Amino acid sequence: MKNSANIGFAWLITISMLCLLANSQLTTNFYSKSCPNLLTVVRKQVMNAIKTETRMAASLLRLHFHDCFVNGCDASVLLDGSEGEKTALPNLNSARGYEVVDAIKSAVESSCSGVVSCADILAIAARDSVLLSGGPSWRVLLGRRDGLVANKTGANLSLPAPFESIGNITLKFQAVGLNLTDVVSLSGAHTFGFASCATFGNRLFNFSETNAPDSTLLDPSMVSDLQNLCPANGDISRITPLDWNSTDLFDNHYFQNLVNGRGLLESDQFLYSSDQAISTTRSIVELYSQNPQLFFIDFANSMIKMGNIQPLIGSAGEIRNNCRVINS
Ligand code: HEM
Ligand SMILES: *[C@@H]1O[C@H](CO)[C@@H](O)[C@H](O)[C@H]1NC(C)=O
Ligand SMILES: *[C@@H]1O[C@H](CO)[C@@H](O)[C@H](O)[C@H]1NC(C)=O
Ligand SMILES: *[C@@H]1O[C@H](CO)[C@@H](O)[C@H](O)[C@H]1NC(C)=O
Ligand SMILES: *[C@@H]1O[C@H](CO)[C@@H](O)[C@H](O)[C@H]1NC(C)=O
Ligand SMILES: *[C@@H]1O[C@H](CO)[C@@H](O)[C@H](O)[C@H]1NC(C)=O
Ligand SMILES: *[C@@H]1O[C@H](CO)[C@@H](O)[C@H](O)[C@H]1NC(C)=O
Repeated sequence: MKNSANIGFAWLITISMLCLLANSQLTTNFYSKSCPNLLTVVRKQVMNAIKTETRMAASLLRLHFHDCFVNGCDASVLLDGSEGEKTALPNLNSARGYEVVDAIKSAVESSCSGVVSCADILAIAARDSVLLSGGPSWRVLLGRRDGLVANKTGANLSLPAPFESIGNITLKFQAVGLNLTDVVSLSGAHTFGFASCATFGNRLFNFSETNAPDSTLLDPSMVSDLQNLCPANGDISRITPLDWNSTDLFDNHYFQNLVNGRGLLESDQFLYSSDQAISTTRSIVELYSQNPQLFFIDFANSMIKMGNIQPLIGSAGEIRNNCRVINS
């Protein structure tokens, strides 16, 4: 009796593990025969790009995020055209790194033609960017194919805005299968890269009564520096680092900043200071601010989850020749 119960239990475990495997679909060795040097080729290109411009690491990571949240990780963000996602509100004059992706794709094509998707290139480049900036590494799951459509409306609706409440942002993460831990860990990406006055200028002046309470959440010395950078009616394309402590390093200073009231975006600071009493995000921020290893582990796991959003596999989609256009 006891034995058969155990056997039943063992089967249950085996079956649920098989389901998990079948569910993840992507594999780390997808190109081991068809493009054995893929990871080396991409790594070299990302290294070159970061050597030319340190910020590019952040820009490449963000491209993978903006790809995955819209129609899944299918490189839809890379498609050119006036109805492309590049021209949607969250991306216009903001998302960048497309030329670097072209350079990586072209190096990959020289090494093994016609087999590696642009969606997978984004996933590998994101991992390399984090690692080369001092962050964690993880084994990238591969086998995604490229989508045939861009979704500008989807980009407008699905990507989070810095003016949104944590509740609303969490709903956008939940819509793609990510939870509150993922919201906080992935926001840690704002430990490097830059943001423009357009995205935090609302915090600097009391334009309206609703801005007043938020100004009080920002370190006053930062407020005065930022008011100089972003004067009212000034150039909203001017930029400043998201993490003033260590601009280009991937570390846990982002979370220390939040604890010190030095989160640049309103949506960043809300993870710690929201008066909507989201105590879960506050306690995760506190944990990460004290424990960089835990942040690194959780970030890597959340990146793998994000990379698993609705991949096109099998014969769905295509392998694009040029990341900017679908094959004719
Ligand atoms: C949680 C909701 C999020 C919001 C509201 C948000 C919003 C923003 C905004 C407004 C900027 C500045 C854009 C500009 O001024 O041009 C930015 C930059 C950036 N974001 Fe996020 N983001 C979020 C989550 C994420 C996630 C999940 C990642 C990646 C895992 C990410 C990675 C980045 C990076 C690396 C930059 C700097 C890019 C560069 O310097 O080119 N963000 N984000
Ligand atoms: C996306 O948002 C922008 C800015 O709000 C708007 O001008 C544009 O019409 C929207 N496009 C689509 C396709 O939803
Ligand atoms: C575009 O994205 C929206 C919102 O995420 C989704 O409802 C819609 O089905 C997508 N459209 C296409 C053509 O993929
Ligand atoms: C949250 O989303 C709702 C529905 O889209 C919207 O009406 C509301 O203004 C949003 N709130 C914030 C603070 O972003
Ligand atoms: C989010 O999901 C991960 C597993 O992917 C889990 O470990 C974590 O506890 C979840 N967080 C919350 C707040 O539910
Ligand atoms: C905004 O107004 C509040 C009170 O109305 C004031 O305490 C605060 O200093 C103002 N913030 C800025 C940045 O001017
Ligand atoms: C960065 O943070 C550390 C504490 O973690 C602090 O000692 C140091 O002064 C900060 N550096 C800058 C440039 O803000």
